[in-house]
Amino acid sequence: VDLTPYNTFGMRVRAAYFTELCAKDDLPALLASEPFRRGPVLWLGGGSNLLFTQDYPGLVIRMALQGVRILEDDGETVCVEAAAGENWHGFVSHTLSQGWAGLENLSLIPGTVGASPIQNIGAYGVEVQDCIESVLCMDTASGRETVLSRADCHFGYRDSVFKHEGRDRLVVLAVRFRLARHAPLRIGYGDIRAALAEAGVEAQPSAADVSRAVIRIRQSKLPDPAVLGNAGSFFKNPVVSSEQAEALLVRHPDLPHYPAGPGRIKLAAGWLIDRAGLKGYREGDAGVHDRQALVLVNHGQASGKEMWQLAQKVQATVETRYGVRLEPEPIVL
Ligand code: EPU
Repeated sequence: VDLTPYNTFGMRVRAAYFTELCAKDDLPALLASEPFRRGPVLWLGGGSNLLFTQDYPGLVIRMALQGVRILEDDGETVCVEAAAGENWHGFVSHTLSQGWAGLENLSLIPGTVGASPIQNIGAYGVEVQDCIESVLCMDTASGRETVLSRADCHFGYRDSVFKHEGRDRLVVLAVRFRLARHAPLRIGYGDIRAALAEAGVEAQPSAADVSRAVIRIRQSKLPDPAVLGNAGSFFKNPVVSSEQAEALLVRHPDLPHYPAGPGRIKLAAGWLIDRAGLKGYREGDAGVHDRQALVLVNHGQASGKEMWQLAQKVQATVETRYGVRLEPEPIVL
């Protein structure tokens, strides 16, 4: 099966086996099936956070479970459950149209609801863990459904239990969010205030105003995967010791940095790549985006191997220049 439509990088790769999970009732048969038992198995959401460098030798399962339902509503807060296959931005828009705040800063992130806790998606000062109450999973080892509380998920920066102990074992079926009718808005990050002012709503912005501001900022910087293949930020912002950060800041006082826990500082990888002279750099059709250096793009026909070669060149250049190792953010297969 051709996987080109199922990965936002637009890599032309194939899977030995492919299926879509559209109903929970089909799970037992799927888990018992020959290709599943033989493996390897790859669960796919929107395909917006991975880079295929070769054909997939096993079974690819696209998570397509749909449905949104309210579990609790006390007039002020609501607990709403969304199935893993729901489109993320579609779900965010739905919550905002219902007057529920909490997810507005995460507007327009590509991908699905089910992928959101796996890498703890984040943008503009908010991470999805801030609004997650629990995650409904299938434990493929036991075949049972289990509910993980937010604490059970061990959320970190672009990280969770689903990338470690739960990897290849826990499949996200649905996510339960706690949202509020009058949640405080988070508008402190970078460009948000300016975008609200530009829209003339800085005095008393609503959650929907913040969402529109975030959408405008993202559209101005981040390439639309439907137009230019990409997987969002290709590297995580590196977290270094405060000593290393201070040493770097002496030489590069304008390097953007943020506190990241005791003795730890997060650096802007986009800035490092940009100042290393690589913004807009291209090798064939594999390129560094010209408006946000943290995003690698496929200008058309780049192969996964070429994208990965470019990524390694970026890593090596930044490491030589700044002594900082950048780690890929998407899954590289
Ligand atoms: N910068 C540059 N040059 C660049 C890119 C960035 O100088 O080419 C500087 C910016 O001027 C700014 C700083 O670096 O001072 C940070 O840039 P930005 O606010 O654009 O955010 P980011 O740190 O590059 C992170 C997330 C994004 C998220 C934005 C906004 C990661 C890996 N990326 O990017 O998430 O949208 O913050 O909150 O944490 C993603 O994960 O796929 C993603 C797009």
